[in-house]
Amino acid sequence: MTKPKVFVTRIIPENGLDLVRDFCDADIWQGEMPPSREDLIRHLVNVDGLLSLLTDQVDEEAMHVAPNLKVISNMAVGVDNIDIPAATALKIPVGNTPGAMTEATADLAFALMLSAARRIVEGEKYVKSGKWKTWSPQLLLGTDLVGAKLGIIGFGRIGQAVARRAQGFGLRVIYFDPAERTFQGADAVNLNTLLVESDFISLHVPLTEKTRHMINEKTLNIMKSNTVLVNTSRGPVVDSNDLYEALKSRRIFAAALDVTEPEPLPRDSPLLELDNCIVVPHLGSASKQTRDQMAFLAAQNLIAGLKGERLPHCVNPQVYS
Ligand code: DGY
Repeated sequence: MTKPKVFVTRIIPENGLDLVRDFCDADIWQGEMPPSREDLIRHLVNVDGLLSLLTDQVDEEAMHVAPNLKVISNMAVGVDNIDIPAATALKIPVGNTPGAMTEATADLAFALMLSAARRIVEGEKYVKSGKWKTWSPQLLLGTDLVGAKLGIIGFGRIGQAVARRAQGFGLRVIYFDPAERTFQGADAVNLNTLLVESDFISLHVPLTEKTRHMINEKTLNIMKSNTVLVNTSRGPVVDSNDLYEALKSRRIFAAALDVTEPEPLPRDSPLLELDNCIVVPHLGSASKQTRDQMAFLAAQNLIAGLKGERLPHCVNPQVYS
């Protein structure tokens, strides 16, 4: 029996690849960098399935070059790199990997919060550059978490996992959820109240037209001057230029970014020159266990789609109606 043809856009963890190879005739992109637009289009011709990453822009044109495309499986929870309405119109189910990275991403959000609050990165640079001479009463003073107010924007799985961690650190938690879901045991507030009252703000919203640049000059201007902003969601949720101005002028205390716009930031981005801005390379889900789990779920979605079965995690279930 001939196996279905699939394109896998990068080398993913072996447990996922093994599953894919068992069931499919797999074309696996070997590059360290993602396939270029031309390469993506070229490798999609005549495939039955696509296993993509968040670095691949899968738009309507890409879907049209593969008339047999039965499934798109994204190895990420976010699917803003895929034109979902186009996939739905073409009746192509799109899978994602929710749940797998919840705890790892919440851990990273917390690590960033602590690092920015206690100026860990600055401290490390200070020691390694040989500047540290002695303990000093005023050296690299940060800010306490205990008793502070944490505002969580987007209160889905990851936002709630951050809230659980916050309890252990004695933070008071408020949240704003654009999807207007309500939860017991945490205080929902409107966005304005959250921005005005929070000492720490952690972003956990998907990137949509509603959330793009929701952190901008206007919203930064109403934050407290001691605010630490943490972004582990998607870069374009924050306007990079406006954030630079707010950090440079000390309008807010610090930011810690796992995601940026663009991603990566250019080497000469002014954000990279600021001591009060930590930037790490989109590491939210970057633990061995989490990436294995994501690869496994992505392979399961892919194979289910190729078999004509309902995807275990489908973001456009309308395709089944
Ligand atoms: C996701 O799954 O969307 C994450 O951003 C990957 O780290």
